[in-house]
Amino acid sequence: MNTISNLSIYKNTPNLGGQKPQLPNGTASIRNVYIETYGCQMNVSDSELMAGILTQSGHRTVSHIDDADVILLNTCAIRENAETKVINRLEHLNHRKRREGNLIIGVCGCMAQHLRDKLLKAAPYVDLVMGPDAYRNLPMALNAVANGDPFLGLQLDKSEDYADIAPIRKEGIRAWLTIQRGCDKMCTFCIVPFVRGRERSIPLKNLTDDVQRLVNEGFKEIVLLGQTVNSYHDGNHDFGELLWRIAEVDGVERVRFTSPHPADATDSMIDAMENCPQVCKQLHLPLQSGSTPVLERMRRTYTAEEYRELVSKLRERIPQIALSTDIIVGFCGETEVDFMQTYQLMADIRFDSAFMFKYSDREGTLANKSLEDDVPETEKARRLNEIIKLQEGISAEINQDVIGTTASVLVEGDSRRDAEQYHGKTDTFKTTVFPKENVQVGDIVNVEIHSATAHTLIGEIAGSNC
Ligand code: 5AD
Repeated sequence: MNTISNLSIYKNTPNLGGQKPQLPNGTASIRNVYIETYGCQMNVSDSELMAGILTQSGHRTVSHIDDADVILLNTCAIRENAETKVINRLEHLNHRKRREGNLIIGVCGCMAQHLRDKLLKAAPYVDLVMGPDAYRNLPMALNAVANGDPFLGLQLDKSEDYADIAPIRKEGIRAWLTIQRGCDKMCTFCIVPFVRGRERSIPLKNLTDDVQRLVNEGFKEIVLLGQTVNSYHDGNHDFGELLWRIAEVDGVERVRFTSPHPADATDSMIDAMENCPQVCKQLHLPLQSGSTPVLERMRRTYTAEEYRELVSKLRERIPQIALSTDIIVGFCGETEVDFMQTYQLMADIRFDSAFMFKYSDREGTLANKSLEDDVPETEKARRLNEIIKLQEGISAEINQDVIGTTASVLVEGDSRRDAEQYHGKTDTFKTTVFPKENVQVGDIVNVEIHSATAHTLIGEIAGSNC
């Protein structure tokens, strides 16, 4: 058996333009593959794609890790702790590999692309390392590994959009649909353009066909996914038009999208959000910082004032809109004054919710090359705690204001805590829990909200007597 350090490096096969990749002759054996997903929704969607590629080539995906003879970790590189988690997991899996001998372990996705050699050093027992543009090679890679050759597939490929691959999704109500891969924005803190390559959009016709299939399979809500989802374009068709076209597919109840970039929030997008009934009145709009000098160093291409104006415009056009955001504290050179501007902007805008992070220096990013990660860890932690506290209060207050109103909720399934209750999401993407009545999963029902926490609305179906 070769070790990973003298492994043969396979180049990615070219985009096969609709042809199905073939297993090399002679050595095919059907594998039971368990895919463990880390990180963002895009990774969840990529895992569904990997399952599609594996199934098409005769392999099986399994839902219990103990049934697997191949374990693939689909990983995230966005912050250091995401990578540390995977290294720890690999060590744990290696115990099983030592016991079982023939267990195949693969690292796929952004961390595979990011760490490359370091990963091989940290975990030399890994058999397969594969970046986000190389998944077509999975069947070939499993064969190579079975023949004793570790596999490395790390070429990025601007033409790879996987448009011809049918992902395998769990049955459900909400389907995530990748409409765009890669990113061209080059924010200085972000590793994504380096691990996912250049931006490419999937043709509109493929997407409307996909959505029709999803509706036929019973999905009610479609969430469009892309790194900067609203920079989508296919020829003259822009993101706003795509929203209309997806919403028009017969049977689509709701359409959402994540994550847009503020600089691409065009009138066409806002118009679709305002006027298309299926497009939910909810927007996740990453701010990152409330300080214009910090935004400049981040290369976000908008100022704090422009962001404020965009929010005002959105609220004017769509008064009931729920807004959420991403914030990074402790970015290179962030002073107390910069931080207070972020705090103040959050207090002024009053987001419904926020994902908040300490800046994590990532090797290979523009910030890593040219800016100093100079805010001490303790200071980053303090700033993070302050905005978490602020946001928790705001989220709780906003949810309190919903009490006494009736919300339209798409029923998704049993509540995790109580099988007598359903959970679902409002149009504004708030989790809502209510006692089961004579309704089914997949129905849209009116729920009277009678109490709330910062993260959940609690109510009962309107008109019920319980
Ligand atoms: N450090 C901390 N947070 C980051 N994000 C992206 N890169 C980094 C980093 N280096 C955050 C941003 C982004 C979200 C997905 O992750 O807020 O919007």
